[in-house]
Amino acid sequence: MEFKPSIDLKLTGVCELAKAGPAGVVIFGASGDLAGKRLIPSFFNLVRHGSIPDNFFILGVGRTDMDEASFRLKIRQALVNSGEKTGSLTDNFCSKCFYMTGDYDDPDEYVGIRKRLDELEKKYSTRGNRVFILAIPPSLYKTVATHLGKSLLMEKGRTREPFHRLMVEKPFGRDIDSAVELNREILKYIDDTQLYRVDHYLGKNTVQNILVFRFANALFEPIWNSRYIDHVQITVAEEAGIEGRAGYFEQAGMIRDMLQNHILQLVSLVAMERPVSLDSEEIRDKKADVIGSIRPFDLNKINEQVIRGQYTEGFAGALKAGAYAAELGVADKSCTETFFAAKLFIDNKKWKGAPFYIRSGKRMKEKASRITVVFKPVKDNIFRDIGMEHRPNTLTFSIQPQQGVSIKFMVKVPGSKMCLSPLDMDFNYKDKFGSDIADDYGTIILDCLLGDQTLFWRKDGIEASWKLLTPILKKWETCPLNEKSRQMHFYAAGTDGPKEADEFIKRDGREWI
Ligand code: BG6
Repeated sequence: MEFKPSIDLKLTGVCELAKAGPAGVVIFGASGDLAGKRLIPSFFNLVRHGSIPDNFFILGVGRTDMDEASFRLKIRQALVNSGEKTGSLTDNFCSKCFYMTGDYDDPDEYVGIRKRLDELEKKYSTRGNRVFILAIPPSLYKTVATHLGKSLLMEKGRTREPFHRLMVEKPFGRDIDSAVELNREILKYIDDTQLYRVDHYLGKNTVQNILVFRFANALFEPIWNSRYIDHVQITVAEEAGIEGRAGYFEQAGMIRDMLQNHILQLVSLVAMERPVSLDSEEIRDKKADVIGSIRPFDLNKINEQVIRGQYTEGFAGALKAGAYAAELGVADKSCTETFFAAKLFIDNKKWKGAPFYIRSGKRMKEKASRITVVFKPVKDNIFRDIGMEHRPNTLTFSIQPQQGVSIKFMVKVPGSKMCLSPLDMDFNYKDKFGSDIADDYGTIILDCLLGDQTLFWRKDGIEASWKLLTPILKKWETCPLNEKSRQMHFYAAGTDGPKEADEFIKRDGREWI
């Protein structure tokens, strides 16, 4: 298919990255992995594209004892690792990065931060605009947010200039009680409009495209319901394992790590009703409605709705890969799932009877995230009489690493005979638009600086997601080890997951696409 955007939106200025105003950013956990691998390269990228002005600085706070020179070296290395070439731009960026070593639970620490912030805010004329980012273990969110609030480094009501905003990484809570408690604690010190609960999937271009595809085209919305759609499949597979994060992953598992957040966001974007506008509250209302309408799991039939898996020895690409149980820091006989498959029903008129099959796993054959909408077969297929079976139309949103949309439909095979064949019509972002200038973290960081909450979780959505999942998490946690082992389905690293996941969907007469 030859596709060309018919107007150059970049030239008209419509699609240029927005420009944030002056601000100082404080990153807690600045010496950690998230900061080094995702946040710092994204900040740099925004600076490079002129979306962050000169009046800007990063104050890193971390438990690792390090002086400022070592921190800057670490930042430079993080930029190099992300593919940047060093030069005056990286030098200038590093010169605006500062560091303090500290204990997150020591009130004196926050006195020190205030002193440092006062100096830096004056030096860089950031007009008192502050963004605090929590890139620390989730168990510390409450501690740091409370100290920030009590020390008045972060003041309630500062939604607009001079603004005080708090960006909190996922997971926000680990069950319904802890999420409610975390919301309650943080919202003592700031308003919900100052709180940015991160889900970096929402910053992905291809994820945002779901909204555009559905609501900016007249073709699909009229048939976007269970009258025409048989079911939806969502697969988020990773070739990578737990990447040295056993401490976190043993406590989380795949359901907390991927389903509660990224995958439920994908479900809500596919299933939401049409918002009346692009207003952030309106969009988040519609998404929260979906999550609140997902049918609760029936704990007596849990095996029909969720299956868990764990990888054993196998491959990561061409290389040999060890079992999850053999990873450093993983408990002997650990029953943490590195894979799950689940079936969800959304109990509203639009989706009555159409299941959403979702699966996600570590150490699978390849990294591939996609959503496939499978349409019902053509009614009264007139080609059946000549022996031609109809294959269902499918619409696939490829999120990564391929980025695009493809539609499967039936065509006539050339020749005098009436022969039919399914055909894919593919649109690939990279071929048509080149590389994306803003990455997922870059998009959400910029939105936080601009004060746009559309791409962040709201309190009701996050609590609804935990309300849905807490019963199955609790049931699993309280079930005896021998029972857990019995229900755990093992798969070799480098494969498509346990065979039970295939049987799971086959029982409904369907298969993974
Ligand atoms: C994170 C999870 O939120 O998302 C990781 O904690 C996962 O376990 C990552 O690997 C996947 O993100 P992406 O953008 O690489 O798909």
